[in-house]
Order: sequence, then structure tokens, then C-alpha cells
Amino acid sequence: MKKQAPLTFSILLWTLTSCTEGELAPLQKPYKILVPIPVSSWSHRQVILPIIEALADRGHQVVVLSKFPPSLSHPNITEMPIWNSIYEEKLNFFEVRKHPLLFLYNFRSQLSSLAWRLYNDTAVRDLYSMRKEFDLVMIDALFNEAMYPFAEDIPLITVSTVGNNYQQSAVAGNVQNPGYIPTKLWEFARPWKIHDKVFNILFHIINAFVWRYLVVPSIEREVRVHLPDIAPLLDIERNQSLSFINSHFSIDLQVPLLPSQIQIGAIHCKPSRPLNKELTSWIEGAGEYGVVYVSLGSMAQGSTMPVQYRELFVSAFAKLKQRVIWKYEGAVPGVSHNVLVRRWLPQQDILAHPKVKVFVSHGGLLSLQESLYHVTPMVALPIFGDQERVSGHLHNKGFGKWLQWEDLTIDILLQAIYDVTNNTRYIENVNKASKLMRDEPLTAKEKAVFWTEYVIKHGGATHLRSPAADLTWAEYFLLDALLFTLIVGWFAVVVIKTVLQRIRLDYGKMKTE
Ligand SMILES: *[C@@H]1O[C@H](CO)[C@@H](O)[C@H](O)[C@H]1NC(C)=O
Ligand SMILES: *[C@@H]1O[C@H](CO)[C@@H](O)[C@H](O)[C@H]1NC(C)=O
Ligand SMILES: *[C@@H]1O[C@H](CO)[C@@H](O)[C@H](O)[C@H]1NC(C)=O
Ligand SMILES: *[C@@H]1O[C@H](CO)[C@@H](O)[C@H](O)[C@H]1NC(C)=O
Repeated sequence: MKKQAPLTFSILLWTLTSCTEGELAPLQKPYKILVPIPVSSWSHRQVILPIIEALADRGHQVVVLSKFPPSLSHPNITEMPIWNSIYEEKLNFFEVRKHPLLFLYNFRSQLSSLAWRLYNDTAVRDLYSMRKEFDLVMIDALFNEAMYPFAEDIPLITVSTVGNNYQQSAVAGNVQNPGYIPTKLWEFARPWKIHDKVFNILFHIINAFVWRYLVVPSIEREVRVHLPDIAPLLDIERNQSLSFINSHFSIDLQVPLLPSQIQIGAIHCKPSRPLNKELTSWIEGAGEYGVVYVSLGSMAQGSTMPVQYRELFVSAFAKLKQRVIWKYEGAVPGVSHNVLVRRWLPQQDILAHPKVKVFVSHGGLLSLQESLYHVTPMVALPIFGDQERVSGHLHNKGFGKWLQWEDLTIDILLQAIYDVTNNTRYIENVNKASKLMRDEPLTAKEKAVFWTEYVIKHGGATHLRSPAADLTWAEYFLLDALLFTLIVGWFAVVVIKTVLQRIRLDYGKMKTE
């Protein structure tokens, strides 16, 4: 059937005049946004920077308090560097791997002394006293609790750089079911076994209690030394307007979310740019087997990689038909001719090259997002922190292989690389996920800009707030209702029993009379 002329015309008109896909309405008013994130690692920064840049490009003024030296030459961004020693880059994360909970514990004790030192800095206190000039405060929800006083009486957006975080979600009133939603640190092969489930439930509970009743109070005590009149940190956190979550339902676990929980996963992923001459000729000269790309991320430096693992990599790579590009800081003795070692590499541009067939990775969340975005399956060797969770998830979704350092042999590594290259199911799963994560009405950056402006325009957007955020945990788990029912029930039983006894007594009397 031919289309009618007026309809065709109106479609044409609509096409010409409406916004192109994902375009936001013109900016009404530039806002001032404060982003105090003194505790931040390189990878957390990779999630927050695109948000800040998107807001600045839009015309908003953004002030960033962070431990990194200024690096953004943007007229609308002001960076205030404030050094701190948390996330010490030289930590040996292979050592940390042996004692994950001890590491977390030490880390937490450092946060309170850092809180004291931060507010002892006059630059930080000056910024604090100017905070009412800002329309909104945005804080990384992990480890930056000391910064919540900046958001007292100002709309607050938190960013969950580590992806879905049950603890962060519970604060907003969305308590996630530990029967199937993993903690930040561990995921297991699905379906979960009963002991996986029990472990997960216990860790959910213990971690949340330790954090709320031990860690945050000690941070708060140190902040109060400098600012005695602040509201409780957990109250400010609980009053947050919205949170951005570095995850996306197409590639992560599907979890129930509130209207105030906005997914901006893979916000740092971008279309590839051309590679330099050396990399281009290395990759294109690789022949039919293509290239294996190897990087263990920004935190675990090559120099801290135990020698036995380094030598195992060297021997395994020598047996590959592929060429290898290995991000490693320092020289690698005995490396074979098919391996190119560099200190720094444009990871996304490499992953985007069709000849790059496998990404041997530490299973970092951002690495997973990049490898899906640029369609390269992975072999994951998680080292510490949430990498175990990300690698377990990758295994469950069939995006690649999940290995453990402790079990690693040359054969296991080779077999994993062969499997990922030969078995098409990995590349098919990754390809599908890549298409799904890109199929969105707004890009992650546009979503971040839209929702930030939305919160400011609507005075903190309290209408998004879940009533569950105002309940105590006893109320949330219906313990008050249960107790009430028990008391009323008990009372009723007593009354009925008394009445029955009375009747029986009277009846007995009647009979004897
Ligand atoms: C900075 O913000 C102004 C408006 O506040 C805007 O006109 C300008 O384009 C922004 N600059 C850049 C480089 O985006
Ligand atoms: C705290 O601040 C004061 C005044 O600025 C300074 O003299 C002192 O060295 C600081 N203390 C520490 C431990 O940073
Ligand atoms: C709680 O949030 C609302 C909306 O953003 C804000 O107006 C109010 O001042 C906040 N209260 C506290 C104690 O931060
Ligand atoms: C898989 O691919 C590799 C090359 O990447 C090859 O050497 C190997 O023999 C293939 N077959 C199997 C079953 O692993």
C-alpha cells in the first residue's frame, strides 16, 4: 500500500524537526556542581570523569576535589588536587589477594584518619564553607563518606563506580535479595550451591553492619573534630536524591531498581580511534590467528607480578600461533618474538581491532565493559576486590573464561585462549551483548546530564524517593508488625482461654447444683 501524501509529509517534517536520536533539549540554565571525591582510584576516576566532562560540555560549572593532579583543560571544570595516600598505587595486589578481608579492614581504618587530615586542610574547609553556592553535590559512593557534609541541605547524587552495590541500594530503600544478588566481592557459578548462597547472605549482613556501625561512626568522629555541627553522615547519605550506577541491564545481572537508580554503565567506552603506526603494523601483520591482548589493569603493576606467573605467561605466549600485545611496566626477560610489551597502550582502540581475538585480563569491571563494547571475548584472571565478582559474572554469561591464579599452568592458560578463539559461542555472546548495550534511546553521558539537571530543576526530586528509605531495618523486615501480631494474638488467646474457662466453670457449677 502506498503511503498517503500528508502522512509521508508529516513523517518527513517530524524527521527534520525533531531531535536526532539521543539529543537533549537546549540548556535552560547553567548550574554549579561540586564533586568532592578525594578517595579515588584510577578506575573510579574513569567512571566519574565522563560525567563531569559531559556536564561541563553542556555548559555547567563543575568543581572537582580529587587526589589527582589537574588533567582536564576544560574552561568549565575547576580541579582542586588534594593528595592522600589511600589507594597507594605501589601496593602489591598479588599479596593483597592472599588476605582480602584483612586488606579491606586496614583500608577502612585508613579512611577515618584520612577524614581528619582532609578537614585539617584549610582549602577543604574553605570549599566546605562555600558549599551553599552549589546547586548539587556528586560523590563516589564508595569510600568517600567523609565528604557527605558537603551535601547537607544540598541535593546529592551518588555514583556507584563499582556497578550494582547492594549496600548503596539499601540506603535508598531498595534492599536487594541476597538469595541471588551477589555482594561487591564474589560471584559464583550459577545456579548457586547452598553454601554459596549462605556465604553470600552472611557477607551481605556482616559487611553492612560493620560498615554502618563501626566504619562510618569512626569516620564521623574524625570529621566532627573539625566540624562539630554536621548532621550524621548516614542521614545525609540516606537523603540522597539519586544514584548513578555503573552497570547496564543488558550486560550485568538484572536487578530491580528504583526510579532514582539510573544505570550509566560503560559511560567511559568510546568509539575507537586509529592506532599508531607500530601497533597497526603489529596487529595487521599477525596473520590468520590474530592477536591476544594482555593487561592486568591499572592497579596491579607489572613489577608486583610474582616471577612464577610472569615466567608462566612468557612460556605460554611463546607457544601461541597468535601475536601478543602485553601491557606490562618494565622489561620482560626471555620474551618470545611474537610478543610486544609496552608500558601503556590504548586499550579500547586495540580491543576494537577485528584482528584482536582475546583479551587476557584481571577481570576489572571497566575492562569487561570495554571488551563487550568493542566485541572481544575475555580470559579473566581476577586478582583482588570486585574482580572475582566480575569474572564470575563473565563466566555465567559466557563472555569468556574464568581462571584462578592458584590453579594456573601453561596448559590451562593456553587451553583457555584456544577455547575462547575456537569456540564461537563466546564471540556470539559478546557480540549480542555489545549490540544490546548500545541499543538505548540516550547515551550514558546524556542520561547522566539529563538526570543531574532533573534533580536540580525539581529541587532534589524528592518525588523519586522510595518510602522504604525512611524505614528502620526492623520496620523494613516487618518485625514491628510481626511483634504486634504476636502480642495481639497472645492477648486474644489469653482472653478466649479465660472466657472458655469461665464458661466451663459456670457449666460445672450448674451441673453440681
Ligand atoms: C562552558 O559553559 C558555557 C556556558 O556556561 C558554554 O557556553 C560553553 O560552551 C562551555 N564550554 C565548553 C568548552 O563546552
Ligand atoms: C593540620 O593543619 C595545621 C594548620 O594548617 C598544620 O600546621 C598541621 O601540620 C596539619 N596537621 C597535619 C597532621 O596534617
Ligand atoms: C534532604 O534533601 C532535600 C532535597 O534534596 C534537601 O532539600 C534537604 O535540605 C536535605 N536535607 C539534608 C539534611 O540534607
Ligand atoms: C584452537 O586454536 C588454536 C589456535 O588459536 C590451535 O592451535 C588449536 O589447535 C585449536 N584447536 C583446539 C581443539 O584447541
